[in-house]
Amino acid sequence: MAINIALVTQKGGSGKTTIAACLAGYWKSKEKKTCLVDADPQQSATEWHKTGGRAIPIDVYTEPRTKYLTELVSELEEQDVVLIDTAGFQNQTAVEAAYLADIILIPVKPSPMDIRAVGETLGMLRKVGDVRLKEGREHAKIVFILNMVVPGTIIAKNAKDELSSMSGKVLRTEFRNRIAYPESFIGGTTPTFYEPRGAAAQEIEEAAQEIIEIAGETNG
Ligand SMILES: Nc1ncnc2c1ncn2[C@@H]1O[C@H](COP(=O)(O)OP(=O)(O)O)[C@@H](O)[C@H]1O
Ligand SMILES: [Mg+2]
Repeated sequence: MAINIALVTQKGGSGKTTIAACLAGYWKSKEKKTCLVDADPQQSATEWHKTGGRAIPIDVYTEPRTKYLTELVSELEEQDVVLIDTAGFQNQTAVEAAYLADIILIPVKPSPMDIRAVGETLGMLRKVGDVRLKEGREHAKIVFILNMVVPGTIIAKNAKDELSSMSGKVLRTEFRNRIAYPESFIGGTTPTFYEPRGAAAQEIEEAAQEIIEIAGETNG
């Protein structure tokens, strides 16, 4: 059974596509059967993959249509990890992705606007979770990851404190603001391939390991 991980937030530009691609690249590099479902009509992940001539040998499926997402994800059950990148919660396919997910990964930039948007995202997720409960399924695990962090700043600490008080788990690993993320994307790769010994590759590895641990924990 695949672990389905959906990246969702109410907020654009928080790093959903970046983190989805980085995690997909990392797990692929570790020989896990990994694929990326691009459920965003803007198709940023699809473009990233095409740009580099599919430099990372993962399968990227483009499926922004709500009614076909469930079918696609069920066909991918033989994978180890399925990452679903979304357009965010203004979009019905993102709601569907959350409905299908085992883990909902919410990237958050340390800014007051992003923190505020987390509240709205969690509100949407509660509704999705209620539908699942009615169907006898448990809630997905909600995981926050701080992204584009500038270390040592008051705003980064505030963001972490605020997230800790919300209903979700905050990853110990934070992604710092690093040029390796956009730079590696130019060639259709990720820091894991572009700069394997770099600090970004290291934080991707740590985050990926934490997520796998969380996936193995029982709810409650
Ligand atoms: N940790 C990071 N450090 C530097 N730039 C980042 C980082 N994460 C994302 N970015 C950049 O921020 C922008 C928005 O990220 P993106 O992944 O497209 O967000 P979303 O998919 O949530 O809209 C992109 O230009 C991306 O390259
Ligand atoms: Mg995106």
